Amino acid sequence: MKKRGVKILCSALAGLTMLTACGQNGENAADEAVTAAVDPAIAEVIEARQKALKDVGGAFKAISDQFKADSPDIEKIQLAAASVPTLTEGMAEWFPDGSGPEAGIETDALPAIWESKEDFLSKVSDFQGAAANLNSVAQSGDVAAIGAAFKETGGTCKACHDKYRLDD
Ligand code: HEC
Repeated sequence: MKKRGVKILCSALAGLTMLTACGQNGENAADEAVTAAVDPAIAEVIEARQKALKDVGGAFKAISDQFKADSPDIEKIQLAAASVPTLTEGMAEWFPDGSGPEAGIETDALPAIWESKEDFLSKVSDFQGAAANLNSVAQSGDVAAIGAAFKETGGTCKACHDKYRLDD
């Protein structure tokens, strides 16, 4: 009776990463289901893109902090603006098939990415163009022009998040 209950629980958890509770029994089907659910290569792609996007968020915050300051430190803005194109160089390859919510790890990437891949990739390219422009304008040192380019780039983040990222 008790054993059966555990088995049912393990099957119910098969889609999650609850390995330890279900790992004792060698022939346990839940084991295989768990292994199959999380592909390490996919997990790596998801974690890498999340880390890069977190760093992009940090760079954007660093720039906006300078614009809020009494006297913006142009060097800090230039450094942050220069980091974004480098961080996001391979962005078009960050969302391979199978790296959506079905991957079995936490991700805010919505299924719409794979349903409208062409539109999604055009959002990637809009963003990369705006970020490259922001970087070159930043190096010119013209604060008003940097502000405009920053706003434009921020608009491309939002355009993608509104459609393709959960909770934004
Ligand atoms: C083409 C689409 C796209 C563009 C452009 C984009 N993002 Fe995102 N962003 C996403 C998606 C999708 C996620 C969720 C990724 C995941 O959880 O796997 C995300 C996640 C994030 C996160 C959370 C990362 C984490 O997991 O901690 C931050 C911060 C972020 N984006 C900031 C930005 C900023 C700032 C910009 C613009 C400078 C930007 N993004 C441009 C699609 C985009």
